[in-house]
Amino acid sequence: MDKFIISGGKPLRGDVAISGSKNASLPIMCSSILADGPCSYTNVPRLQDISTMEKVLSTLGMNVIRTGEDAIDIDPAGIDAFEAPYDLVKSMRASILVLGPLLAKFGRAKVSLPGGCAIGVRPIDMHLKALAKMGAEINLSHGYVMAGVNGRLKGATIVFDNTTVGGTENILMAAALADGVTVIQGAAKEPEVVDLANALNAMGARIQGAGESTVTIEGVKSLHGVNYRIIPDRIEAGTLLVAGAITKGRVTLRGHRTDHMVAVIEKLVEMGVSIQELPDGGLVVDGTGDLQPVQVETVPYPGFPTDMQAQIMALACVAKGVSRITENIFENRFMHVPELVRMGADLQEAGNTVIVQGVSRFQGASVMATDLRASASLVIAALNANGYTEIRRIYHLDRGYEGLDKKLAKLGAQVTREKGGL
Ligand code: EPU
Repeated sequence: MDKFIISGGKPLRGDVAISGSKNASLPIMCSSILADGPCSYTNVPRLQDISTMEKVLSTLGMNVIRTGEDAIDIDPAGIDAFEAPYDLVKSMRASILVLGPLLAKFGRAKVSLPGGCAIGVRPIDMHLKALAKMGAEINLSHGYVMAGVNGRLKGATIVFDNTTVGGTENILMAAALADGVTVIQGAAKEPEVVDLANALNAMGARIQGAGESTVTIEGVKSLHGVNYRIIPDRIEAGTLLVAGAITKGRVTLRGHRTDHMVAVIEKLVEMGVSIQELPDGGLVVDGTGDLQPVQVETVPYPGFPTDMQAQIMALACVAKGVSRITENIFENRFMHVPELVRMGADLQEAGNTVIVQGVSRFQGASVMATDLRASASLVIAALNANGYTEIRRIYHLDRGYEGLDKKLAKLGAQVTREKGGL
């Protein structure tokens, strides 16, 4: 397992290109199951999770080829299997996003139940209930979801009482080829959901209202292949803003979408970080000012994203005063807390809130990455720290950040990757 060795205290400077969005690419890759022809996608990041999705789709019989640095072609013509096996689903929960499209196109699907994961229990009950409302017969057997439908899925009114990104995505894909009109109430509004709807519409789907809480999908008989460019990764962009700020550096993001990052930018500005948009579209973060404490609550989009909670906590650790960070989306997303404490942070957990008493600086230590965004917070802390930090199990980071070590090194960070070991 690779590890990072980071020598902290170097202000980051320069331009950095933002990669394509992981969480938009994954459902959009699944949506190609619905097409009657080949699909070509660009701005697809090179990540472990994307490789896992390539395997899931190949297992179904699809032809998946990387045609360039950021491009993938997916041809659904060869689909002859309808199962996402345990080995793949357990390594990446997003594999459950094949369920809706397989059912809609082929009337059958067998998908392993994902089980719990590092950040919470994460059931898929809302996905299953909604598909059942559309006429699917669903049985749970031997750890698998066995789903089938006689004929086509039927349009229905789906009410999500709690926001679910993956549930909304599964139903968007299922409804695109269903018989009649589906209305989703309480739909997730995340930019990744909107990107999926845009990709589906480019394939001939009829989806209206994506990005709002009520989405209407008029089912069509067939969908065609597509050329589609994925949106930039707002979480990678936010993580690099925080990295720039914590090193008191000056970093310019390129290829990002500012409109997808409003809540994160607002919080950083509240903390005293200067963020400015250049006339040429670059977004400059300047972290030379003093950091103020902050109150953050994670909520569904357009609120502050849970996927940035660990990173902003790292920044709050070196602000002057007491911050409060509340996690409302996942029940176990504070695994970075004990690791940040090993690096000198003063943190106290109180239920789903962490009270952060600012310290002047992190201290380098040996720490362990536990999940994707937790790893990012440790990298951010290490960039600020006095001395060397060794971050083990960096494979968590590689699941969702494309070449973060290379990007940071180009900005002047002293970061090396050591191959192998525990
Ligand atoms: N939930 C249920 N039942 C369901 C579905 C969800 O109880 O049927 C609960 C979950 O357990 C969780 C909450 O609802 O507590 C939100 O889950 P949601 O379905 O919205 O999340 P997801 O689709 O599993 C996606 C992202 C996550 C991101 C969340 C929230 C992908 C592949 N994953 O997960 O990204 O944190 O939305 O925005 O899009 C990450 O990239 O690090 C990551 C974890």
